Amino acid sequence: MSGTSGSELRTSLKLPWRIRFILAALNAISNASIRRNGTVNRCLMTLIDFKVPPSDKPVKGVTTSDKPVKGVTTSDTTVDPSRNLWFRYFLPRGTTSGENLPIIVYFHGGSLVFLSPSSKSYDDLCRRLAGELPATVVSVNYRLAPEHKFPSPYEDGVEILKFIDENPPANADLTRCFIVGDSAGGNLVHHVTARAGEHDFRNLKIAGAILIQPFFGGEERTESEIQLAGTPLWSVERTDWCWKAFLPEGSDRDHPAANVFGPKSSDISGLKFPKSLVFMGGFDPLRDWQKRYCEGLKGNGKEVKVVDYPNAIHSFYIFPQLPESTLFLTELQDFIYSQ
Ligand SMILES: *[C@@H]1O[C@H](CO)[C@@H](O)[C@H](O)[C@H]1NC(C)=O
Ligand SMILES: *[C@@H]1O[C@H](CO)[C@@H](O)[C@H](O)[C@H]1NC(C)=O
Repeated sequence: MSGTSGSELRTSLKLPWRIRFILAALNAISNASIRRNGTVNRCLMTLIDFKVPPSDKPVKGVTTSDKPVKGVTTSDTTVDPSRNLWFRYFLPRGTTSGENLPIIVYFHGGSLVFLSPSSKSYDDLCRRLAGELPATVVSVNYRLAPEHKFPSPYEDGVEILKFIDENPPANADLTRCFIVGDSAGGNLVHHVTARAGEHDFRNLKIAGAILIQPFFGGEERTESEIQLAGTPLWSVERTDWCWKAFLPEGSDRDHPAANVFGPKSSDISGLKFPKSLVFMGGFDPLRDWQKRYCEGLKGNGKEVKVVDYPNAIHSFYIFPQLPESTLFLTELQDFIYSQ
């Protein structure tokens, strides 16, 4: 991207006006809801965070696919009421009793601060994954910052894996378990998978980790953060605020939760880490941090496949009408069904 100025890059971004409008609204309201004193106005967020209940009637996800797509039923399971730990389970219709599908444990995005499995955009996305791959999906309601800081969501993720190991959901093949998440959820994918590698599960086997535009960071300002400032959804002011809300008091953004292969990180070469798939986008200010993450994994002898869409913005996958969303589903399917 060298040789191109930030403003030239931004004006070369092509997006339908409807998506621009949605992103602008999301940006304005989420920005207005984060307060200078470090708290979040959760009431204000309900204006844009529409919640959908689970449904035992099969519903199809929004799709642009020309293949037949299965309807999906959903149900919610509470794991620990004291910390509001629960998950939404997505099961494709017509799965017969003996048929076991791969299981995706999904961590939603939202800057470690916002959203949940019942948020409409994530209910839709997980429904599309379940119906189109097909797969079963466990979408995790992990604890959010600033009310719950590091390492609360990582602990919640591991707790969910232990729970499904002991209580396998219907039609899930626990030996084909994939840890998947986008943005902040992609950050959780790394840390939950790393922590899970130290635990002996009875039946569950992690077959792969899939990080969709993961949220990583550090003290340094990277070239992509500078050049892509002002592209939809992200600004360094916002990411700085979110890291401060999430990381322990007194730590900086080089904390290993944010900067996995940074100056404060310990050696991970001995860590059990499965083959991973990382999605990046040309208009995502976080792309330089994601590149470094992939290089860090490779440098530690881990196998990683990188898929980089030059025209994709951060969060492209929640818009089925974007062409990359269709490519993305095919890529996921190939990865999951080849393991
Ligand atoms: C968010 O709001 C603050 C004022 O509260 C403003 O200074 C800042 O530029 C806004 N950021 C974005 C990305 O809109
Ligand atoms: C932060 O500001 C909000 C709204 O101004 C206020 O209700 C809340 O008590 C403040 N919290 C802290 C910890 O200062």
